[in-house]
Amino acid sequence: MVAPTASSSTSAAPVYELPWVEKYRPLKLDDVVGNRATIERLKVIEHEGNCPHLMISGLPGIGKTTSVHCLAHALLGDAYKEGVLELNASDERGIDVVRNKIKNFAQKKVSLPPGKHKIIILDEADSMTVGAQQALRRTMEIYSNTTRFCFACNQSNKIIDPIQSRCAILRYGKLSEEEVMKRLLEVAAYEKVEYTDAGLEALVFTSEGDMRQAINNLQSTWTGMGLVTPDNVFKVCDQPHPILVRQILAACQKGDIDVAMEKLDEIWGNGYAAVDIVTTLFRVTKTMDSLPEALKLEFIKEIGWTHMRILEGVSTVIQLGACLARLCKMVSEVKQT
Ligand SMILES: Nc1ncnc2c1ncn2[C@@H]1O[C@H](COP(=O)(O)OP(=O)(O)OP(=O)(O)O)[C@@H](O)[C@H]1O
Ligand SMILES: [Mg+2]
Repeated sequence: MVAPTASSSTSAAPVYELPWVEKYRPLKLDDVVGNRATIERLKVIEHEGNCPHLMISGLPGIGKTTSVHCLAHALLGDAYKEGVLELNASDERGIDVVRNKIKNFAQKKVSLPPGKHKIIILDEADSMTVGAQQALRRTMEIYSNTTRFCFACNQSNKIIDPIQSRCAILRYGKLSEEEVMKRLLEVAAYEKVEYTDAGLEALVFTSEGDMRQAINNLQSTWTGMGLVTPDNVFKVCDQPHPILVRQILAACQKGDIDVAMEKLDEIWGNGYAAVDIVTTLFRVTKTMDSLPEALKLEFIKEIGWTHMRILEGVSTVIQLGACLARLCKMVSEVKQT
């Protein structure tokens, strides 16, 4: 069971409700969900105490910043305050900062537990300028006996190769549906949220493996609607309702273009963008067990082409309609053969 990490204190001071993502941000590596193999590597580092330069890359909201902080806390304990310098995208991180702030910190004398190093956390490092990254190269080497660098970023290709070659690189993958669900259940139990199972599944569906989004949507649905059901979740997340999308696909499977177009008009009338509709079409197709495997592959291929056209700028309802027409045609061709 997760416990809130920041206390909602019982003192007389007014209790300000924290966003749940912060309230339930893990403090120990053990509490970070998913990516077991990479977390195990971090735990070995924690155990041995000798942290190499690290780089963690991966999609948003899957625990990169959290893991780096957990590691730094575990390594430095009470010395965290003096021993860690954190710079993220909200700080100025041009070449001057590398020359002054980072170098000064690296040169600073700090008494740490034996065998431990100072840690410089550079969060969202992909937004650092190339110049600043270049300036870090030598700095990382000169001070490496006392200071270690931890980078977290979304796109590792935005980090220059020389820095990558100085780091142990860890890649975080998307969290699985079960992992997100498990965490949601824990948070929901702790916050006494009323939910239906389908409601939580809808949260998992909409979050696409992004834990931050899942927890945020849970909080928004609960505070806004008072009950977590699929309908409420899709209202809050403002995504085309997968049930409607499933009806479209079911109609295509029967070769019934009239019903498919009618449902499409309904979704379009609600104001959703073509790209939202086409991505939901894709995600629902993936999970449609009623579609035979071969047909599913063809459907996905066709939806993929439509997605490409939409991204190229032709985001009209005609493109979506044409896609549905092709799906219907495909079914009738399969039937004929
Ligand atoms: N693996 C996880 N286990 C438990 N909670 C998580 C996990 N990943 C994310 N969270 C929740 O989401 C919040 C945000 O996570 P975090 O700041 O680590 O994301 P991030 O990977 O650094 O994303 P970004 O790339 O946007 O910076 C955390 O406060 C935590 O509540
Ligand atoms: Mg982060």
